[in-house]
Amino acid sequence: MTKTMRIGIIGSGGIAHAHINQYKKLADVEIVGVADVVPGKAKQFVEAQGLGGAQPFEDHRKLLELDLDGVSICTPNVSHHQTTVDALRAGKNVLLEKPMSVTLAEAIDMVETQRESGKMLTIGFQPRYDPNMKLVQDIVQSGKLGKVYYVETGGGRRRGMPGGTFIRKELAGAGAMADIGCYSLDMALNAMGYPKPLTVSAYTSNYFGTNPLYHPQASQFEVEDFGVALVRFEGDLVLQFKISWAMHMDSLGSTMFLGSEGGLKVNPHGTGNWSGVWDGKVGNMTLFHDFMGQQTSTPVPVIEHQKDLFFEKVRDFVEAVREDRPAPIPGDQILIQQAIIDGVLRSAESKREVAIELP
Ligand SMILES: NC(=O)c1ccc[n+]([C@@H]2O[C@H](COP(=O)([O-])OP(=O)(O)OC[C@H]3O[C@@H](n4cnc5c(N)ncnc54)[C@H](O)[C@@H]3O)[C@@H](O)[C@H]2O)c1
Repeated sequence: MTKTMRIGIIGSGGIAHAHINQYKKLADVEIVGVADVVPGKAKQFVEAQGLGGAQPFEDHRKLLELDLDGVSICTPNVSHHQTTVDALRAGKNVLLEKPMSVTLAEAIDMVETQRESGKMLTIGFQPRYDPNMKLVQDIVQSGKLGKVYYVETGGGRRRGMPGGTFIRKELAGAGAMADIGCYSLDMALNAMGYPKPLTVSAYTSNYFGTNPLYHPQASQFEVEDFGVALVRFEGDLVLQFKISWAMHMDSLGSTMFLGSEGGLKVNPHGTGNWSGVWDGKVGNMTLFHDFMGQQTSTPVPVIEHQKDLFFEKVRDFVEAVREDRPAPIPGDQILIQQAIIDGVLRSAESKREVAIELP
């Protein structure tokens, strides 16, 4: 008989609903508790979601006293570190929402705690479950591009600034670079096999977020709505990383991998103000190469699929725990992109190139 997986939810805001909706589709999963620091919010969530026997808590540490196989951590970014460390120390497996953390020091502590605990820490990057992301990785790693020396990634929303906890430094820690930039970094770095970053030189601004013409909470807007960074890696590789939540432009360009033998251009799926970033699916891909001495561009067929990527990430977490498999998107890998985001924030602040020190 299949074991029923006992799951808890920490943070019962917007994205927690998406987690619950997926858990509900899975047989043999029981939501046994929900915690939210706002008094009454977890109880309301339990009732609204019809979670029957699930216990509401205001302190996540009380939830962690329950017998649980895993927790979904759905709190704002600055709470990711403490809630994750507490959950791992309490012997729970963790599916953590992106971005992993705000600072590199937090991410290092989370990974060390994960290793000590022997429990799972997986980060919730649902675009990884688009089979086309795997195709991009396979193409880049096939050797067909030759030596890859330059990668450009990122994405631009023309108007797509969130509000609430996302724009407050004490809750989000960072703005667009971490919020949607983490997806762009993951798609590019995962394709490259997560090479080791050495330095970052970055610029950030927030001309849109702080302007009441463009944001209804402009007076509370404290993070960046635009950023650009040049990242150097070991092995003669550079990456340019560009992100906007809002801009006077239709696009910040494609993701591209330039190699000595070929180039791959990849565009995200979707249209509209909130599109153009890597939180969804792959739209189209083109391979640039020479063929019989001719400059040739070949469309790479996109794999059609009906997968619900968010469902796939929640299901994979549950199954990985049940089957005692390694973390699907392990914290010790995502630590590397967290080091880059940390470097971006430090470089933008100091207006200088900064070194990235990985443990
Ligand atoms: N994967 C995705 O597609 C996706 C989409 C949106 C948001 N997110 C991520 O999910 C996280 C949450 O975003 P959201 O939109 O749900 O935010 P939200 O502000 O709507 O909800 C966060 C909730 O966490 C609660 N909270 C804060 N600190 C807590 C703590 N220590 N213990 C328990 N509860 C706590 C808040 O009271 C709030 O109810 C963010 O890190 C965000 O980046 C991911």
